Amino acid sequence: MRGNRPTRRAVLRQWLALPALPAALALSAASAPGAERRLVPTPACDDREDTTPSQTEGPFHKPDSPMRHEFVPEDAGGQVTLVGLVLTPRCRPVTNALVDIWHADPDGAYDNDGFRFRGHQFTDPDGRYWVRTLRPGLYGSRTRHYHVKIQPEGGPLLTTQLYFPGEARNGDDWLFDPALVMTMAEVGDGELGRFDFVVDV
Ligand SMILES: [Fe+2]
Repeated sequence: MRGNRPTRRAVLRQWLALPALPAALALSAASAPGAERRLVPTPACDDREDTTPSQTEGPFHKPDSPMRHEFVPEDAGGQVTLVGLVLTPRCRPVTNALVDIWHADPDGAYDNDGFRFRGHQFTDPDGRYWVRTLRPGLYGSRTRHYHVKIQPEGGPLLTTQLYFPGEARNGDDWLFDPALVMTMAEVGDGELGRFDFVVDV
């Protein structure tokens, strides 16, 4: 039942209000029951982390997207709020890293004339990014995915894709990588996703 769950905005507010790495733990504790606990697992920082796998850019990237966190209006239905960190392999937050996200619309079409479902931002002092958007549609042979480019200041460019858990077509898409699956949770008014990128800096 969604009625007792916190809203996306409430969880996002918590996420942005707390220092990043302690926030992951605090938010999970503060947001019981289970959905949010699963949503914001604390990154495993005990040892050196593997860097996030790269994937093909695909044919639909456009440079010079607008700088924004919100791809859809606040009252749009079916929203996904995706949050996460950009981290070094030693689990330190990467500040001011470029995070460029683009994806198909709910019908599986890319806006190649304008910038619908396209935008970039820079991580905050705690390495956080967030975006409010929708679930992308399916197209061609692809399972559901977001495209992302991450570039730390003066660092290497990571181009990759993010996937949804439990998608029927994940197993049929040769690009699908389980290491790139977001953690998703239903909240009061939509979905929250979480993915932390580890970049080679
Ligand atoms: Fe795509």
